[in-house]
Amino acid sequence: MEYSKTLIFSLVICVFIINGIESITVQIQATPSEGILGQTSLQLKCSYTTVTEYVTGVNIQTKINGQFKNIATFNTPSVPFNATLTTDGNYLTNRVTLTNPTSSSTDSALIQFSQIACEDENEYMCEVAYAGSGGSTSASSGVETITVKGNPELPDSVPSYVPSAGIEEGNNVVFTCTGNVGKPQGKFRWVRYRYDSNDDTQETPYESETTTAVQMPGTCTFNGTSQLTLKMEQLDNNAVVRCQVVYQDVPQEKLYHQTQGINVYYSVRNVQVTKFPPIHHLLKEQDP
Ligand SMILES: *[C@@H]1O[C@H](CO)[C@@H](O)[C@H](O)[C@H]1NC(C)=O
Ligand SMILES: *[C@@H]1O[C@H](CO)[C@@H](O)[C@H](O)[C@H]1NC(C)=O
Repeated sequence: MEYSKTLIFSLVICVFIINGIESITVQIQATPSEGILGQTSLQLKCSYTTVTEYVTGVNIQTKINGQFKNIATFNTPSVPFNATLTTDGNYLTNRVTLTNPTSSSTDSALIQFSQIACEDENEYMCEVAYAGSGGSTSASSGVETITVKGNPELPDSVPSYVPSAGIEEGNNVVFTCTGNVGKPQGKFRWVRYRYDSNDDTQETPYESETTTAVQMPGTCTFNGTSQLTLKMEQLDNNAVVRCQVVYQDVPQEKLYHQTQGINVYYSVRNVQVTKFPPIHHLLKEQDP
């Protein structure tokens, strides 16, 4: 007696589980899964497929303080209400459009982003409420991650340098460059251009100067600072020093600023003096 009761009970649980697992699938997908800060579009889609269940609502969730919370609530045609942002989802106001599913068996709920902000970098899940053989219950998707990138910008200004005037050969000059190096954090590279008397250019890259960066207040992109120290030589007179952004390991062709030609004073001893008759010889010639 005891044995058969247990058996029947197990069978019932088993059927219920198989039913729950096999006949409703819920998926969440972000396209693309990388958003670029600003006016870029991204679609977060929660799709479900059912066989016998009747879907009544969908919630899209994201992690807030470490816990998944509903940010948007969707309804299927059986409930004629528009999709809405929840209180937790209020931060998305004016940046997203919500679209309800149009079917209770196979369809999807959509969040269409028209503008991407730093806080959109997060994990997302969706939960589908449905009526099945076991009554009202819900099924959840896996987790989808959205990452947010920020494009770098032109360096803030032409590189500054110290000392800024009266530079003599042998002086160490410190060049400084700052600016938005993007997210993920990029860096600066430096290039010195020397011009010789034939107007040939000699280009010397400095790729491994450190760039330190801090996240800018109010955004998640990085403000980088880099310095280059050069001991100025005579050949550096009129040289130009350039600071260029490197983002995701690629030097950004248009994102650079460079100095004007730098004046370097050098002493006369370095000027080559060619043949000059000895003074006593001159004196002799002047002798009458
Ligand atoms: C639902 O959305 C439509 C279109 O956005 C709008 O015209 C309508 O007023 C909304 N209905 C409710 C009840 O908010
Ligand atoms: C980066 O920081 C420097 C100060 O360290 C500041 O002068 C500059 O305006 C900042 N740049 C940006 C793009 O915020």
